[in-house]
Amino acid sequence: MRRVNIGLVGAGTVGGGVFQAVRRNGPLMTARLGISLGIRKVAVRDLGKGRRVKLPRALLTTDWKGVVADPQNDIIVELIGGTTTARQVVLEALRLGKPVVTANKALLSAHGEELFSVAQKHGGNLYYEASVAGGIPIIKVLREAMVGNRITRLYGIVNGTCNYILTRMKREGADFDDVLADAQRLGYAEAEPSLDVDGHDAAHKTGILASLAHGFWVNPAQIHTEGIRGIARLDIAYAALLGYTIKLLGIVKSVGPAPGGPVQVSVYPALVPDTHVLASVNDVFNAVFLRGDIVGDTLYYGRGAGQDATASAVLSDLGDAALDLKHGSHRRVPAFTPHERGGRVQPIEEAVSRYYLRLDVVDRPGVLARIAAILGRSRIGISSVIQPEGLAGRSVPLILMIHDATNAAMLRALHSISRLPVVKGKPTLIRVESFE
Ligand code: NAP
Ligand code: HSE
Repeated sequence: MRRVNIGLVGAGTVGGGVFQAVRRNGPLMTARLGISLGIRKVAVRDLGKGRRVKLPRALLTTDWKGVVADPQNDIIVELIGGTTTARQVVLEALRLGKPVVTANKALLSAHGEELFSVAQKHGGNLYYEASVAGGIPIIKVLREAMVGNRITRLYGIVNGTCNYILTRMKREGADFDDVLADAQRLGYAEAEPSLDVDGHDAAHKTGILASLAHGFWVNPAQIHTEGIRGIARLDIAYAALLGYTIKLLGIVKSVGPAPGGPVQVSVYPALVPDTHVLASVNDVFNAVFLRGDIVGDTLYYGRGAGQDATASAVLSDLGDAALDLKHGSHRRVPAFTPHERGGRVQPIEEAVSRYYLRLDVVDRPGVLARIAAILGRSRIGISSVIQPEGLAGRSVPLILMIHDATNAAMLRALHSISRLPVVKGKPTLIRVESFE
């Protein structure tokens, strides 16, 4: 039987999970694939560190270069994170023509095109199922299952940490910082958690999904990105009153005729109607709602972060890489195939949506009329208004639900509204997603 040796670089949350999972289900994979898979060496930063998953001392080294270069290590798995050493690890392995498995969405987002072209040049391949949506095999879906579909819509809850935070804020009225600390303890959050809460991790993943769906590489700078720091418990409560749940969404939407028409690629918190399936995706779970022009609507659901969910995706890639080695078909499914020369991302200013607007206003006659007049002059319609009973002359929240408007028009109107003396503090503007 063919033996395939794995060189693991990184044994933290995900690396430890991969080690554990290969021990547990390696024999199952062998039975299914007819290949014996084993972890031969593991590179870490600190040999003396206490680890939740115990690794035999003889496997450990601090010399990742040695692990990559050793001709006995057939597949290299990069699980250290970041974009500096990780890039070197992946490039060195690819230059040796080795298959590389990574869970590193930040690296792919920043250097994907370079890495794919080096893989192609040296006859290797790059596998990255674990980079998006944890245990959901969404990369396989886009690269293989949907090869015969144009993807017209993709909405994803792709950051487990943010979904966990928003869920607990809604369910328990929990405090943002406390829940983030729990997400870190549970191994969901990135080493630098601002990547999660400021939306960058979701943007890295959404860019990868958009690129695969539309056949041109979407750079992070092209993705309008907002995180969840500005979401207050008050907004979660008012959204619930109106029949919505706030979720951080990655959105990839064809907004012109395909092929070649512009594509909206953005990440922002949005009000999701409680009747939509994505509203009930809670805790660390992720989901991707995908519409193909032939298949119609499809939905993928599973745990989006954490040791085991991510290890499962790495094992899927290890199975593919091992089979490709066994059959000498290293590029059977290429890492990324650009095929849309004229593809372009729509500037966020042109994107159209509905909005939830919360203002802190002085409870005084004529206030609503002045706000409505500014919106009216911009041809922006109000669909509903909530104002809890307040005390005359004192501040009170005013919540407006706004009909479809471009981002540019809405921001211009908001600028004028926020300059009214009766408007106190910073307005909160959250988009409302219709899923049309
Ligand atoms: P982590 O817990 O911080 O683990 C990082 C590992 O890399 C540690 O074992 C560390 O060694 C090792 N390392 C760092 N620099 C190294 C170097 N120069 N040489 C050798 N080893 C080095 O990170 P993680 O959560 O497992 O995440 C790893 C990757 O998976 C990241 O790209 C992350 O974005 C991605 N990912 C994570 C999740 C998740 O749920 N956590 C899910 C999907 C994808 P020491 O142990 O000695 O410090
Ligand atoms: N920090 C990421 C998340 C890990 O919370 O989704 C999974 O990619």
